[in-house]
Amino acid sequence: LRPPVPSSLVARLDISARRLQSLADSLVILGIGGSYMGMRAIQESLGNPWHNELSREARGGIPRLYFDGWNVDSDQQRRLLELLDTRAAAHPDTPPGRTALIVISKSGGTLETAAAFRNFRELVERRFGSSATELIVPVTGETGRLRQLCQAAGYVDAFSIPEGIGGRFSVFTAGGLLPAAAAGFNIRALLQGAADMTDHFRSAPFESNLILQFVAVCHACERDLGCNLRILSTWGSCLEALGFWYDQLLSESLGKHERGATPITVVNTRDLHSRGQQHQEGRRDKLITNLLPGEPLFAPLTVPSHRFDQDRLNQLAGTSLPRILEAAVAGVNEAYADERRPTADLILPTLSEHAMGQLFQLLMLATVVEGRLVGTNPYGQPGVEAYKKNVQKNLGFS
Ligand code: PA5
Repeated sequence: LRPPVPSSLVARLDISARRLQSLADSLVILGIGGSYMGMRAIQESLGNPWHNELSREARGGIPRLYFDGWNVDSDQQRRLLELLDTRAAAHPDTPPGRTALIVISKSGGTLETAAAFRNFRELVERRFGSSATELIVPVTGETGRLRQLCQAAGYVDAFSIPEGIGGRFSVFTAGGLLPAAAAGFNIRALLQGAADMTDHFRSAPFESNLILQFVAVCHACERDLGCNLRILSTWGSCLEALGFWYDQLLSESLGKHERGATPITVVNTRDLHSRGQQHQEGRRDKLITNLLPGEPLFAPLTVPSHRFDQDRLNQLAGTSLPRILEAAVAGVNEAYADERRPTADLILPTLSEHAMGQLFQLLMLATVVEGRLVGTNPYGQPGVEAYKKNVQKNLGFS
């Protein structure tokens, strides 16, 4: 007898996530664009970058995580399928060998994701037989091909992305929350962060309203200074995926009617050694927004002293890496100011679910507000739809 299904979506997501964790030690998240980038941003900003290298025990029972269905890359997909197949052969039908799938597609018809789902589904059905209906969890719209397939296949769990919420605004639907919960993140704190940012947006006056200030700076720099390139300058590799999520949010929402600023994500200090030159001395068409991750989560590393001091680093012995980063942030901002290059800062208190929830919500609200300000409907992506149709036409697929 199955226990009664709770009415709260978050509770149902928790149950489904825990079931996936207990059944499988590998979890593949299939989706493209807004249907996977939010989760990827959560994983990279809050997760251990070496998660998949750890033992199941050290991972706290959280499955190894993989992303696919976001490209058409046969070799890459084959290598992942072979890895999972080898694992299944080594541990036949026990959690260490099992793979679970979360397939996310709002429309249910996006070719990249649908084609990948076929291949990963074949693996799961071939290796795990009737358990496949428990190991596969679709997240899709109320209608569409994937929804029909769910009904035919009889998956134990399937979740909906509500009508009217496009992929890039869907991180707080089951599309972002189910994989986040399965990956062990605190989805309640994520949602609380978003709710707190919404309250702030509604109640704070213009002068201290983070969303309105962010929009005002971006819009004024574009309109008055011709800064139609928006560089999101992330100070930590863990924020690169968040930057890609934002690239997609801004591009698909405001890149319409031959207008809309172009977003570019950089990771510093890495990209100071590549794009930095252009940002400092190239065309005056850029607004640089620093995204700072706040306090490190763990005890900071320091520069050790060494008896071979040919690199002269002993003078910095004991200096922490965050202190070096701080000097780099200040140094580059000073250089931009000297050249009269506009910069803005978004400063996170630290990396946590609550802070990431706030950040996602700030950026989504700002994008919608800016759309309203410039008269562009931020919803819908007719250009992407045109590409999708043409691919299908070229393949004779209907
Ligand atoms: O933001 C969007 O709506 C898009 O990026 C979609 O998420 C992307 O095209 C994938 O579409 P779907 O979720 O329908 O497979």
